[in-house]
Amino acid sequence: MLKLLSGEIGKQKTQCLVVPVCENAGIHDDPAISSLIEETMQIKEFTGKKDDTVMLYNPANDKWERILFFGIGKRENIDAESFRNFAGKCTKQLIKKELSEIIICAPDPQKLEMKEDAVLGAILEGACLGNHIFDKYKKEKKEKPLKTVSVFTNSKIAKSLRLLPSRTETICKGTVLAREWVSMPSNEKRPDRFVRSMVKAAEKEDLSFSILDEKALKQNGMGAILAVGAGSRSKPRLLILDYNPYKNKKAPKNKKTVVLVGKGVTFDSGGINLKPGSSMDEMKMDMSGAASVAATLITLARLKHKFRVVGVIPVVENMPSGDASRPGDIIKSYSGKTIEIGNTDAEGRLILIDAMSYAIKMFKPDAMIDMATLTGACVVALGEKIAGVFSTDAQLAKDIVASGETTAERCWAMPMPEDYKKFLKSEFADINNMSSTRYGSAITAALFLSEFVEDTPWAHIDIAGPAYYKKSQDYCGAGGSGFGVRLLIDLLGNM
Ligand code: BES
Ligand code: ZN
Ligand code: ZN
Repeated sequence: MLKLLSGEIGKQKTQCLVVPVCENAGIHDDPAISSLIEETMQIKEFTGKKDDTVMLYNPANDKWERILFFGIGKRENIDAESFRNFAGKCTKQLIKKELSEIIICAPDPQKLEMKEDAVLGAILEGACLGNHIFDKYKKEKKEKPLKTVSVFTNSKIAKSLRLLPSRTETICKGTVLAREWVSMPSNEKRPDRFVRSMVKAAEKEDLSFSILDEKALKQNGMGAILAVGAGSRSKPRLLILDYNPYKNKKAPKNKKTVVLVGKGVTFDSGGINLKPGSSMDEMKMDMSGAASVAATLITLARLKHKFRVVGVIPVVENMPSGDASRPGDIIKSYSGKTIEIGNTDAEGRLILIDAMSYAIKMFKPDAMIDMATLTGACVVALGEKIAGVFSTDAQLAKDIVASGETTAERCWAMPMPEDYKKFLKSEFADINNMSSTRYGSAITAALFLSEFVEDTPWAHIDIAGPAYYKKSQDYCGAGGSGFGVRLLIDLLGNM
């Protein structure tokens, strides 16, 4: 659906030519486009102020049905994210007009002192992600996505970035896959079914998989995963997705394995420590880490990533029932450590530590990253658009934050103070899953995880805020955001 175009703009036939306009600087290098902007700005009604638009119908040129001039504000405030937002908004606006194809004129990156792939990549990404409509559960489908978005640029850039549209589209497809899983209601993705859905998508790619069912989890002694799943009729699973480019080849000297672990709680009622009723429906998104990890693995396979990446995905439903775990219960984790369940709603950390201990034993990874909608406290600390990064490896944390900047899936490094570990002490077991203080509970959650990672370089990304949007954003509709896919693909690409 994404394309790059170059040549003479006047000769390109389109339903709508979209032209981003900067308030206080010329940003286009094509003289035909610059003079169009100049003429329009003479009207004085349109200044290029952010989000101001003018639509012209049947402009002089018989190739274009419309031109949409779209203000992107002052030059000093423009970055890659401005272009994602701009492209997402245009796409949504033109979907409403029932168009099927548009051309977006890219500005000259040099005039903005930005990198070519950053500008063009952001426009392609914003358009592709903004084109996603989640209407699976509506009888009447009101809107149809665009079939084609072309980005017009000069021939030099079009040539050097010729692979960018398909790569961007592959990554956006991964994001959309994660979004759809997250937005799916919990009655349609109980553990067994959600795992089958991930396997079905993975099977089409160069990925191998294995599933540990309830019996295998018992045989392996995964007491923490089993304890969280105990209250639900739909029993827990551990899914392993393995992307291994060394499989049929001689492994290179610098071979590397990274493990990604994703929290897959298909519904988090809180368990016996039942959550309050308001917004409990949103807890269908508590498998966002799992969705992003699975979608990342699928995307890596499509992109033929260079080293081995293994996804380890524990999937459970956290429900109250006569069989559910109780506060005060003591369980034995896969690592052998015993855990007192101080609170059944702190279930994410329980399923993650069994998955992580297993991953370390089976795959001996060079690095391990877990992604989880782990704590409400992280949302209180960083708001709904920024994820928290917790790591004992300063470089890994730095790299994650840097990928967050590049992809605008923002991450902020949080502390892991040794002395806070005392809040996790249990009188009766080796550790308590609940902190003895309610303060800093995103940190104590991360510290709990850190007790199970041994000496593996590890980072934990708490995505409780950005995994899900109640309201539609510039290039994401209401529901799952697919946060993490673009971030991890960028991060792994730089490793
Ligand atoms: N799934 C929740 C965290 C969450 C909250 C995700 C809001 C997305 C939005 C997690 O399992 C949970 O319930 N955490 C508790 C931990 C507490 C019991 C120590 C929390 O954050 O209150
Ligand atoms: Zn919970
Ligand atoms: Zn949860």
